[in-house]
Amino acid sequence: MATQREKNRYAISTLSDNLNTDAAWVYHEATKHSYASIRTNPHFLDWANQPVPFKIYPSLEPLSLTNEIHQTGVAALSAIGESIPAETEAQPDLKTVAQLLYLSAGVTRRREYPGGEIYFRAAACTGALYEVELYLVCGDLNGLEAGVYHFSPGDFSLRRLRSGDYRGALVEATATEPAIAHAPLIIVSTCTYWRNAWKYQARTYRHFGWDNGTMLANLLAVATSFGLSAKVVAGFVDAEVNRLLDVDPNFEVAFSLTALGYISALPPHSPSASSLGLETVPPSRHEVDYPLMREMHAASSLESSGEVETWRGRTPLSNLTHPAGATNPLLPLADRDMPRDTIEQVILRRGSSRKFSQSPINLAHLSTILNRATRGVPADFLEPPGTQLNHLYLIVHAVEGIDPGAYVFHRDLGLLECLKQGNFRTQAGYLGLEQQLPADAAVDIFFMADLRTIFERFGNRGYRTVQLEAGILGGKIYVAAYAQCLGATGLTFYDDDVTRFFSPNAEGKSAIFLVAVGKSAKRPI
Ligand SMILES: Cc1cc2nc3c(=O)[nH]c(=O)nc-3n(C[C@H](O)[C@H](O)[C@H](O)COP(=O)(O)O)c2cc1C
Repeated sequence: MATQREKNRYAISTLSDNLNTDAAWVYHEATKHSYASIRTNPHFLDWANQPVPFKIYPSLEPLSLTNEIHQTGVAALSAIGESIPAETEAQPDLKTVAQLLYLSAGVTRRREYPGGEIYFRAAACTGALYEVELYLVCGDLNGLEAGVYHFSPGDFSLRRLRSGDYRGALVEATATEPAIAHAPLIIVSTCTYWRNAWKYQARTYRHFGWDNGTMLANLLAVATSFGLSAKVVAGFVDAEVNRLLDVDPNFEVAFSLTALGYISALPPHSPSASSLGLETVPPSRHEVDYPLMREMHAASSLESSGEVETWRGRTPLSNLTHPAGATNPLLPLADRDMPRDTIEQVILRRGSSRKFSQSPINLAHLSTILNRATRGVPADFLEPPGTQLNHLYLIVHAVEGIDPGAYVFHRDLGLLECLKQGNFRTQAGYLGLEQQLPADAAVDIFFMADLRTIFERFGNRGYRTVQLEAGILGGKIYVAAYAQCLGATGLTFYDDDVTRFFSPNAEGKSAIFLVAVGKSAKRPI
């Protein structure tokens, strides 16, 4: 008799297009965490086979970058809350490129442990496994010749994969998405399955969006600090982008593009992207395949520029119903009163809190975090600008001026609606996969989304976008917390229990992401 897993695989293999969303539902259901699934999963960490956290091209010469930080003077809370208007003429030079890369994906801290050394990066990442790689596709920039480059955080350098201007290939792959067509530089993020699946198995596909998102939150903010317009593009012909980077989609896949800067001239027609056959170092002795993820990716792939064109924009709206319960207006800090710590300072001091003190934060802290983090993400799947796929639900434990309880955030009204009052520290610890961090935080912020509506509009690819948006907003919450000298950490969760906890209000919505905010028990930031 076929196992459930085999049935799922069969179901997926008979589907071919993005609009048949059984694939996304199968993946989502199969990768939910529950009290029972955690206890029955026999998976263990094979430390001897842990993948290295870097992609290494041994045959390519490094082009070293400087990680000398240029102080832009732009406050972190401004950088995450604002973006540069789309057609502002500006292009980065090599030093700016280096800072964009360093503050998004660079190694900012190292810590030794008995088995080796962990290289922590500028953005938070599940398990510190760093499965997201960055590639540059650019025309001639000041200090950097046109080409396709791989960014190596390990030795902070670029390696050139192709010489020449290949931006035209991305213009075609995105059906002439306007920001891509006019960008002097496009950063392509790819995700490598095994590097994260070593620990998280098939749930890793969700992490692609989360971990790419936290990185993009930094990238967008740093772009703003340099006066560069930026736009995240999730609609592209997958095979064309993978071919340009010469990645094998069984192991590594293009996940998002970010257009940076604007020039009026369009790029020339791209040379054809032949196979490169470059050697890369295997990440570990052997890899375990989780076909469910590759199937999810294939089912959410776009196959032609015509499909891309109809895919982007027109974001589905799933509005909250007007508040029925008691409400708490938020009181975010005005620009003149907000902490002035710069985006560079804040990113460099960020690190996920490992223990919260249970002490309270104040209403201005929380209001400023929610207000600054949710002012809109420039993205091809968020149209009109300012639209958001995720709704934020909160468990407030210790915020001065707000009674402990469960709340939903009405972004358009700037207030929290109380769903139920009470001390829910124990429940929050349980919902956050029975960890102490969500129980000790001042507030836990859950992201919930109406996947049905999103899939109806965006097909299976809507799953990528909702996770990616959550990661970007989560990354902004990290920055907004650290800008105010608070701590934060991303967390994972028991999917259906989260929906149950926030129901009836959250009925029909799925848990997508969780970030906890509070005061660190260990060190004042
Ligand atoms: C989406 C997301 C989920 C995470 N989930 C957990 C978690 O469940 N438990 C935990 O202790 N840390 C969690 N973390 C924190 C990571 O372990 C941390 O980001 C990583 O070790 C890198 O360290 P850093 O954030 O201090 O740079 C999560 C981080 C992210 C971005």
